[in-house]
Amino acid sequence: MVINIKYKIVAKYIRNKILKGDWFLGMKIPSHRKLAEQFNVNRVTIIKSIELLESEGFIFTKKGSGTYVNDYLNYRSTLNNWSHTMEWSAKSRSEYTVQLINKLETDSNYIHISKGELGKDLIPENKLQQAMISVSKYIGDLSFGYNNGYGYLNLRKLIAQRLQKDGIDISFENILITSGALHAIQLLITGFLSQNSTIFINTPSYIESTHAFDGFHMKKLRIPYTNLHNFKKIIDNYSHTTEGALYIEPTFNNPTGKSLSTETKKDIMKYCQTHNIPVIEDDIYRDLYFTPKPNSSIKSLDKNGSVIHISSFSKSVAPALRIGWIAASEKVIEQLADIRMQSDYGSSILSQMVIYELLKNGDFDAHVTHLRKMLKDKRDYMLAILNQHFSHIANWTVPEGGFFIWVTFNKNINIKQVFFDLINKENILINPGYIYGSKDNTIRLSFAYETEENIQTALIQIKRYANQYINN
Ligand SMILES: Cc1ncc(COP(=O)(O)O)c(C=O)c1O
Repeated sequence: MVINIKYKIVAKYIRNKILKGDWFLGMKIPSHRKLAEQFNVNRVTIIKSIELLESEGFIFTKKGSGTYVNDYLNYRSTLNNWSHTMEWSAKSRSEYTVQLINKLETDSNYIHISKGELGKDLIPENKLQQAMISVSKYIGDLSFGYNNGYGYLNLRKLIAQRLQKDGIDISFENILITSGALHAIQLLITGFLSQNSTIFINTPSYIESTHAFDGFHMKKLRIPYTNLHNFKKIIDNYSHTTEGALYIEPTFNNPTGKSLSTETKKDIMKYCQTHNIPVIEDDIYRDLYFTPKPNSSIKSLDKNGSVIHISSFSKSVAPALRIGWIAASEKVIEQLADIRMQSDYGSSILSQMVIYELLKNGDFDAHVTHLRKMLKDKRDYMLAILNQHFSHIANWTVPEGGFFIWVTFNKNINIKQVFFDLINKENILINPGYIYGSKDNTIRLSFAYETEENIQTALIQIKRYANQYINN
């Protein structure tokens, strides 16, 4: 059973006790230790359930004394009847840190030193405007009705051609247009993966921050990115008992910037084919390389349709367009297109046409060539500051592409405190490593979004607060 279900079960037990009057106002509830023993769970699970019930007003904690039943009747009158229903929905809410990041990420009063998108200077503004003018000329020609679940045919054809150039043996029939790569993953979860399946994910990973695979009774098993050559052992222990799938970011992993070797990719391909484990290859940063092109995608090694390749234009053009794709076998695409028609009837046709125009007239290629150079310069700028200010307190990756530098502090630092202080006192937003499943003293930095001046300001403040919150 996954942790997010367990804490709900404990919370439900306590809530019922209070609602039935077994536990009454002012009464001290059993200690964390006792509850953990009773439910055979760890203390983190108990803390999560206590936090949930506190937020619902059922209980309150007196520092150093314990947890007590609250005046919940009074509090309950301020709640509507749906809060309990929502709690048992198929998906649960993000961690508090992620909710806060999501909330502040669009606030221009902050310096966004971890943000995973292109800054204003890197978005192809003029080219996008031109593409939009071209699209506006279609109005009247095309029927502004519902599209099918597969997406805009012309765009599917162009994406298929581009993937063929990358060594992937497919046609437009293998392509489905999505509203971004995350949507592609959600579509696979609802329309392709079995409920109860075990999802093997590389860690640390972007996907941990989204909770995408939490729900539908799925279980996540983590394979350390640096140890992926060892993936067989980990999968072997579980894959016989349940349906499984492997989610992997082979190129410029978010957040570490690392990539897989060709040998590891071949191994993954061979092993997963033999064991009938689908591979979901999230290759969203592939175009953003600073050295020669990355090695072949896993999909290009796939001869029998075991790999589902997903990507999008969010990182190379603009996330606002919300256009991505899935490349998979025709059977899978057909099923997903059908499921798609049950949810939203397809992505915005206007956005699809804008991307189509950019690709068709060569503007996309010209832009990405320029972008690679600009991103590399910004990476070098950030690295220079890190070398100047952080060499005694941290080490970091030197990414060969993508947006991110992964910083690991040498000492044990209270990263959560650094995160909150930077927000509250300096208007700086960082992404702490723990939201990506990292236990170490890590943060993700992005050189893609901010100006050089803001990069410098933010890094100096991060250093100041990191030094302040060294745990002894
Ligand atoms: C690895 C990875 N996959 C998927 C996404 C989501 O991309 P999209 O905007 O296309 O949904 C991101 C965005 O940060 C990402 O880093």
